[in-house]
Amino acid sequence: MLTVTDLSVRYGAIQALDRVTLEVPDEAVVAVLGSNGAGKSTLLRAISGTHKLHKGRIDTGSITHDGQRLDKLNPAATVARGVVQVPEGRRIFGRLTVDENLRAGGMGVKNRRQGSARDRVFELFPRLQERRGQTAALLSGGEQQMLAIGRALMAHPKLLLLDEPSLGLAPQVVEQIGEIILEINRQGTSVLLVEQNASMALRVANLAYVLDVGEVSLHGSAEELAATDQVQRLYLGHGADEPAGAGAAPRRSVARLSRWSG
Ligand SMILES: Nc1ncnc2c1ncn2[C@@H]1O[C@H](COP(=O)(O)OP(=O)(O)OP(=O)(O)O)[C@@H](O)[C@H]1O
Ligand SMILES: [Mg+2]
Repeated sequence: MLTVTDLSVRYGAIQALDRVTLEVPDEAVVAVLGSNGAGKSTLLRAISGTHKLHKGRIDTGSITHDGQRLDKLNPAATVARGVVQVPEGRRIFGRLTVDENLRAGGMGVKNRRQGSARDRVFELFPRLQERRGQTAALLSGGEQQMLAIGRALMAHPKLLLLDEPSLGLAPQVVEQIGEIILEINRQGTSVLLVEQNASMALRVANLAYVLDVGEVSLHGSAEELAATDQVQRLYLGHGADEPAGAGAAPRRSVARLSRWSG
């Protein structure tokens, strides 16, 4: 379980997050929605400890994962604890091959466990296996996103932090990414998914939060949020004259959802 309590982060004079409180229960997919500049990436950076690379500073609050304070750790120690981020814009190593990118993600992981992680990645992404010797820069946008997720899986994450995996991808590929997130979650990894694509995010998530200029303005089960006026209008693009509920129909089974909505 990840618990973020009263987290405030600033970049110099810019307050990016203001007392944000959020939870990611074990085995859950939690979505964070919000428009440009809402603080979504800042939230993931603070959790992964990479905010310092962007000159960000935690002012107040704490971040705890399975009882351990993450906000006291450096990024490498956070990865070693099983909390792994896929950054916005993928950041794959373009000059390296697919295989070399994966190996970089598994650095610090014992050889035997690297093998099992690679098997898992190739099972999830057969396309990466076919292209394992190819230079990463030559992959399509969707394949690069798959590689970015695959590279993160090499570190055996317990919690995966995904920053806008759907960015710039065709609708069909966004759907595939959604399916992959569900499969990774079924295999026992919890996911904190930052997205502007609310329709995909609310379909795969159990719980969701809306960030509005650095503050949490809404939270609840993904189903509840998808039905609110605010999310319908601002994030699902439905006008007032359209029937409520015309947006994302959560694809999770009712049994699964009810586990989280109580
Ligand atoms: N390195 C930085 N230095 C100064 N200000 C920053 C920095 N990074 C982000 N900010 C500011 O902090 C606020 C939150 O930015 P953040 O990148 O977290 O938003 P976001 O929700 O991820 O936006 P987007 O959807 O565009 O990726 C914005 O006002 C942004 O301008
Ligand atoms: Mg961002």
